[in-house]
Amino acid sequence: MIELEGLSKSFEGFTALADVSFTVEKGDIFGFIGPNGAGKTTTIRILSTLLDPTRGSARVDGHCVVNEWERVRRAIGYMPDYYGVYDGVSVWEYLDFFAACYGIPRAGRRRVVDGVMELTDLTGLKHRLVAELSKGMKQRLCLAKTLVHDPKVLILDEPASGLDPRARIEFRVLLKELREMGKTIFISSHILTELSDVCTKVAILERGRLVASGSIDEIVKRISPHRSVTVRVLSGEAKAVELVRSFPFVVAVELRGKELCLKCQGEADIPAVVRRLTENDVPILGVKEEQMDLEDIFMKITRGEVA
Ligand SMILES: Nc1ncnc2c1ncn2[C@@H]1O[C@H](COP(=O)(O)OP(=O)(O)O)[C@@H](O)[C@H]1O
Ligand SMILES: [Mg+2]
Repeated sequence: MIELEGLSKSFEGFTALADVSFTVEKGDIFGFIGPNGAGKTTTIRILSTLLDPTRGSARVDGHCVVNEWERVRRAIGYMPDYYGVYDGVSVWEYLDFFAACYGIPRAGRRRVVDGVMELTDLTGLKHRLVAELSKGMKQRLCLAKTLVHDPKVLILDEPASGLDPRARIEFRVLLKELREMGKTIFISSHILTELSDVCTKVAILERGRLVASGSIDEIVKRISPHRSVTVRVLSGEAKAVELVRSFPFVVAVELRGKELCLKCQGEADIPAVVRRLTENDVPILGVKEEQMDLEDIFMKITRGEVA
């Protein structure tokens, strides 16, 4: 649905984006992650046809962002990082105005506007002046605006920044709903954990370069090739250490009190470990796989510790 190939952008000799390539499939909620200044907004402005690339190409729904920008604009709903809203109008007037801009005839507009208000939970605020809305409400309004022409792809530039925790949760629920409606969502953030539970895939950008892309699981596997598994036993820990050592996929065992901390590589057959311990009368209280913390991963990647 979105294809970037060797995308580069320079501003008077400064390289903001260098040779970035990745693909977003239809139906993805794709997280575009990177610290401030990484080049996220630059990429998004190119995808939204507001900026031309210096080199490389980008296509949205099969259309080139440079040569077929009108078709691209039809296909996308773009929410910029800083958006202006007109304070003197009501929520309904605001949305009706944008529906008219997209050429939706008066007769069908009411249905469209009611539909997007319903979806973004704005129906109760229909007659409220935009000036009176909270930040979270304004952000929902802005999202509603990007939906009036029923775009296939949503391109959202840091939509969750500045929202309170409750608004963030509601926003994630809304993203999932939009995905279920068949939309492809491309969303940027400088916080990986903010998006990790909604995104199907991510791309991580650092100083204009792509440092990782794929599903979060894939990236985690690549960065930490070892799985850490903790087995808690009731007794017989010394015998247990000897038993687990005999598995070729167990590369290290450390005993911490009654806990055996295993480092495993490749296809680790953890149930086989449990079986062997049980067969040898080691009572097991629990088995837990340690998840690498996403912030750690992000820090590792953006510090350039990952090849
Ligand atoms: N119009 C511009 N002229 C010059 N430099 C720019 C311009 N737009 C962005 N940049 C620079 O490009 C880099 C990437 O910016 P941006 O894409 O806004 O990053 P992000 O959205 O990830 O924070 C920054 O160093 C920024 O200063
Ligand atoms: Mg930005």
